[in-house]
Amino acid sequence: MSDLLYVNGGTPLKGEITVRGAKNFVSKAMVAALLGETPSVLRNVPQIRDVAVVTGLLELHGVRVDADAKAGTLHLDPTDVETAHVADIDAHAGSSRIPILFCGPLLHRLGEAFIPDLGGCRIGDRPINYHLDILRQFGAVVEKQAAGIYLRAPRRLQGTKIALPYPSVGATEQLLLTAVRAEGITELSNAAIEPEIMDLINVLQKMGAIISVDTDRVIRIEGVDRLEGYQHTALSDRIEAASWASAALATGGDIYVRGATQPEMTTFLNTFRKVGGEFRVDDEGIQFWHPGGDLRSIQLETDVHPGFMTDWQQPLVVALTQAKGLSIVHETVYENRFGFTDALVGMGATIQVYKECLGGRPCRFGQRNFYHSAVISGPTPLAAADIEVPDLRGGFSHLIAALTAKGTSQVRGISLIDRGYEHFMDKLDALGAEFGRD
Ligand code: EPU
Repeated sequence: MSDLLYVNGGTPLKGEITVRGAKNFVSKAMVAALLGETPSVLRNVPQIRDVAVVTGLLELHGVRVDADAKAGTLHLDPTDVETAHVADIDAHAGSSRIPILFCGPLLHRLGEAFIPDLGGCRIGDRPINYHLDILRQFGAVVEKQAAGIYLRAPRRLQGTKIALPYPSVGATEQLLLTAVRAEGITELSNAAIEPEIMDLINVLQKMGAIISVDTDRVIRIEGVDRLEGYQHTALSDRIEAASWASAALATGGDIYVRGATQPEMTTFLNTFRKVGGEFRVDDEGIQFWHPGGDLRSIQLETDVHPGFMTDWQQPLVVALTQAKGLSIVHETVYENRFGFTDALVGMGATIQVYKECLGGRPCRFGQRNFYHSAVISGPTPLAAADIEVPDLRGGFSHLIAALTAKGTSQVRGISLIDRGYEHFMDKLDALGAEFGRD
């Protein structure tokens, strides 16, 4: 199938769609199944490419994965875990950063692990230094080889005391997945406390782990000798929900997002309201709509939880091109997450990016040559264009821009969007979008 989508924009998106489990939780819960002596069952799993990639990696390591894709259920049986061949891991992992999280569980089960060069979205350097430092502190030996990184545990990994330089989501998950089976107590300070991490802690606790989350971003884990499988229903994807909410705002539409949940989205909902969007929360989901009239410009800073998520930033910026006045967005999580705005400018948006920390407190990217602040002046009508999808969230934002613009846009590279947005074309169809493929 062609990787090109023709989008005839200018029609408000209206209707109902459903979001299922969070991409950034489901993949980690799948890895956690490796730690159990018995099978696990994960529910509310979306059909996205990241799940397929992790399924492939688990199978390479001898985990039996049975999926009921429609029901969204995965059965994960790790009874026969074994070492996979380097070339196979490499072939499977190309588009994902998840392999790094296999390290702790594999070191516990097999005494060794291999990680190929990591993929993931091109949003800054995305290093893995925190991950390797953590594994070393538990006692793993890390060896860089031509094809990737080889790790081994000469003896049982030992609990340790670690302070992260920055509350990294992946590094916190790395620590959790390693500490639960290590010998003794581990203490992590400056931990990330995103809802997806809290749900991973729920999973690990169901498996038999002892984990406490204290005030001030401190997490304490008492290692145990054995973990069982789990049964768990994944928390909802708050990034996908916010993406559709932004699409409703930018196109002047009205979208009911079934499955969206309020507690994980409080900060987004506040911002959505400040911009002038309206929403209504009920027991099954959240309805987002543009009430008519002018949208308002805002000052916004992305941050770790409970701040405004970096992954919400890109879709919302498209809506801000339709707001009256100057909006300022300061990206503090990634140093390079405004590349997608070039295409928006090509469509008629007025956006300037700056190296300075604008509008908020100074962040670690200030004075370091990174274009990590943006000023958006609106409202500007968007014109159809030929666009190349740069990464997952930037790609969805381009799609929203094409749906907002009058005329027919060509959006190339749309298969990147399948990584994290389940059946997005069926959903566009359900919302009345006009689009087609060759
Ligand atoms: N960082 C380091 N060294 C490390 C790890 C991270 O310097 O070893 C830096 C990163 O470069 C970045 C910051 O720390 O500047 C935060 O990165 P973090 O580790 O928190 O991100 P991640 O775990 O790699 C996950 C999500 C991202 C999401 C971020 C922040 C997954 C698979 N990915 O990435 O999601 O943006 O947390 O919430 O969970 C997406 O879904 O499109 C996506 C990119």
